[in-house]
Amino acid sequence: MRTLAEVQASIRTLKEQTGVCILAHSYQSPEILEIADITGDSYKLSTAAKESDAQKLLVCGVHFMAETAKLLNPEKMVFEANPLAGCPMAEQFTPEEILAEKQKYEDCAVVCYVNTTAAIKAVCDVCVTSSSALGIVRNLPQKHILFIPDCNLGGYVQSQCPDKILHLVRGGCPYHGSITLDDAKAAVALHPDAELLVHPECKPVISNMAHYVGATSGILAYAKNSDKKEFIIGTEVSIVMQLQLACPEKRFYPISTKLICPDMRITTVSDVERVLTDIAQGTAPQLDIQPEIAAQARHSLDEMLRLGG
Ligand code: 13P
Ligand code: SF4
Repeated sequence: MRTLAEVQASIRTLKEQTGVCILAHSYQSPEILEIADITGDSYKLSTAAKESDAQKLLVCGVHFMAETAKLLNPEKMVFEANPLAGCPMAEQFTPEEILAEKQKYEDCAVVCYVNTTAAIKAVCDVCVTSSSALGIVRNLPQKHILFIPDCNLGGYVQSQCPDKILHLVRGGCPYHGSITLDDAKAAVALHPDAELLVHPECKPVISNMAHYVGATSGILAYAKNSDKKEFIIGTEVSIVMQLQLACPEKRFYPISTKLICPDMRITTVSDVERVLTDIAQGTAPQLDIQPEIAAQARHSLDEMLRLGG
């Protein structure tokens, strides 16, 4: 049997041969993060994809992240490490439903979370990530905002922007959204000295009791830079292990063992090696987006980078 180190060495050789830049979301496994060229949250991956000089991008994450990389880099070749990895939140609306909802409000900006399909982005005015949502909503001239699809992120943004009226319909992350107030209280009771760090995809009632609310990269940075010694992590449990590896002198606990995203877990180093081998042989399928959808969806992402950068 080959060792993990041998597979990683083969991946590094294939990267050099093919000139591929690997983008990996922070929820990926440590062995994938180790062989990635760029790691981070959705916003960092979006900006890095745009700035990278590489002509071939391989995305380890979920499908909307690869779509975002392609939309921002139409001239580059984009590949997915595992095309089966999707975000269930990304398809909770159809474009038609969003357009019908928009009709209900006068002078309303349609803001969509980046965790959406290109077809949904195409009918929105601007995209946001969890780290840029607050700043972008504050910067919009409209008072009325139709915020699609994450009601928890939308509810958090609303609590921080009282001068805006956010219209929330339905939707959210099934895993972050499954965490209850009782789960959070139980974790705090078990670790009373720990600070609670929460992703805004959790229910606002949990964000409201947190010491820090932010995107994946914000949670990582806060915990690493803090003088405190113990932290309850209110996001995907992979971040607990990542922080424990980075800060052995501190202690990290999951808010709940329920907070596992299966789609973020299915990509393996073997997938990465296989796709790189196929890229080297010219047989790997590239991600493609219909041109009419891509042009409109790109506008929403360009607006995100303009307003949130
Ligand atoms: P980030 O914006 O923090 O990367 O979040 C993406 C995501 O899917 C969290 O569940
Ligand atoms: Fe989607 Fe939730 Fe998984 Fe993030 S954690 S990719 S929002 S399902």
